[in-house]
Amino acid sequence: MAKAPSKTADRPIPPSTLRILLVDSDSGDAARLTALLPRKGREQFTVLYAACAEEAERLLTQNRFDAVLLDLGSTVGRNGSVLRSLLDRAGDTPIVALTGSADQEAGFKAVQAGAQDFLVKSRIDADNLRRAIRYSVDRMRFRQDVDLLGREIAHRQRITEALSESQNRMLAINESLYEGVLVFDENGHIALSNRAAERLLGDSEKLISRVIDDVLRLKQGDTLLSFAQGPLRRVITQGQFMQDDDAVMVRPDGKPLAVAFACTPLLEKDGVQGAILSFRDIGAFKQAQRDALQASKLASVGQLAAGIAHEINTPIQYIGDNLTFLADAFKSLTDLLERAEQLLAAQGGDAARQAMAAMAEARESADADFLLTNIPDATRQSLEGAAQVARIVLAMKEFSHPGDREKTEEDLNRAILNTVAVSRNEWKHSAQLETNLAPDLPRVQCLAGEMNQVLLNLIVNAAHAIAEADRGGAGKITVTTLLSGQSVEIIVEDNGIGMTEQVRQQIFDPFFTTKRVGKGTGQGLAICRDVVVSKHGGKLSVESILGEGSRFTVTLPILAETRDSEDSA
Ligand SMILES: Nc1ncnc2c1ncn2[C@@H]1O[C@H](COP(=O)(O)OP(=O)(O)OP(=O)(O)O)[C@@H](O)[C@H]1O
Ligand SMILES: [Mg+2]
Repeated sequence: MAKAPSKTADRPIPPSTLRILLVDSDSGDAARLTALLPRKGREQFTVLYAACAEEAERLLTQNRFDAVLLDLGSTVGRNGSVLRSLLDRAGDTPIVALTGSADQEAGFKAVQAGAQDFLVKSRIDADNLRRAIRYSVDRMRFRQDVDLLGREIAHRQRITEALSESQNRMLAINESLYEGVLVFDENGHIALSNRAAERLLGDSEKLISRVIDDVLRLKQGDTLLSFAQGPLRRVITQGQFMQDDDAVMVRPDGKPLAVAFACTPLLEKDGVQGAILSFRDIGAFKQAQRDALQASKLASVGQLAAGIAHEINTPIQYIGDNLTFLADAFKSLTDLLERAEQLLAAQGGDAARQAMAAMAEARESADADFLLTNIPDATRQSLEGAAQVARIVLAMKEFSHPGDREKTEEDLNRAILNTVAVSRNEWKHSAQLETNLAPDLPRVQCLAGEMNQVLLNLIVNAAHAIAEADRGGAGKITVTTLLSGQSVEIIVEDNGIGMTEQVRQQIFDPFFTTKRVGKGTGQGLAICRDVVVSKHGGKLSVESILGEGSRFTVTLPILAETRDSEDSA
């Protein structure tokens, strides 16, 4: 920074020597003038003398002078160009012009041209000469100080402008950041925030001047931390940076916000004065992570199920074949026995009668009548059972098929029957399940594996709701399909416990569950909505009456939206 200008008006006369250049072609005058300027004492002068312009210029080039005395009356001074060139050359060195008594006009002109003062040579004495030199020097210094001050003021103005520009730039950058930013002090008072913070925290009011506790709470397990208890305040009190890549903040409206955040102490002149919190929404990322996890769980369950289904399929085939063979063989043997008895009965004589009696006894003791009636029933039932197992195995194979990543045309009625078959164990204890499937339902372009998951989630939820309502034998789930314009509707209805309006409003929120730990994770309907709405452009709606039951309706467009039509939309 430039040195502050010194005061000029009451500056004490410096005790140092003033160096004077005296320009006068009259050496006699020059000697007289020099004699008027003391070389010792409080005001002392060193005088160098030039009789011509060249000498004056040389001396000015080689030395620093405090003042120049220029005689305008002598030969050198009468030449106007000498004054101009001296003025140029002297720069900031003040010039005092000396004139003859008849030539005062020249003195005024010299002052107009830039000389500090002029004296009439004949009236010069020691006093007025010294005073004229002193004032000229002081005036010149004062002018220099004023110039310096002016430059200083201009410089400060430029700095102020640059500071305000840089501050505006910082504010603009802060406002345009994708991450939310909050700056707050030790008491949690917010000193700065940005638009992203307001958007993420769902607050339309300005956050500045409010307190952290009013705009967000960090969630740790099931506890909502206040600012005083939480880690954000410790960043200030302990001066330590912290970050968390997987945290939950609860907004003023009670909604949880999955975030990654960093909090840095704000170091100012007097130590840590506050902290800067920057945070970003990782909800979509977490959702993708959950989807991937769910997908990988499904994929491994699917692989296992497909493997098991394959293992069961082969033995069940030959059990079925053998049962058919046994049924046929038994029929042949029964026919044979009947034929033998007929032949025996046609024989006459004692031997034949004895043989028939023995036969009847053997029949009796073998309980043959019972066997002949019941063995066909047993084989028929076994065959039906084997066929049922084969059907379930097939449903499992189809249900667990990983499905294409692309949408394919699927028969949703068949998908429903498969899902009903594989979920039987979930609902059979609490409910009857009835399907009411439109026979003419067109195939729908969809992601088969993901739609199976939706159907399963809805049916399992319905079964849980009925179990909770404890309807005895009267629990009922109905799955209906129907064609509705360019869409199909799948309706899953139950007469379970139903839900309150407050629960109904939250059921699609990830992790919202009313079920105990281990029974529900609260992801089922969030996944259903993601699959139906985001991935298929469909709708998922719910109607429910507490204590009476619920009805979930999935509406799916028959034709999947293509990229092109999305782009042109
Ligand atoms: N058919 C229904 N009847 C009544 N309440 C229901 C029904 N379906 C869902 N709900 C309510 O919605 C909540 C959220 O359901 P969601 O399927 O998302 O999670 P969940 O069933 O609790 O757990 P999971 O992740 O295992 O599916 C349930 O906890 C329940 O309170
Ligand atoms: Mg569920």
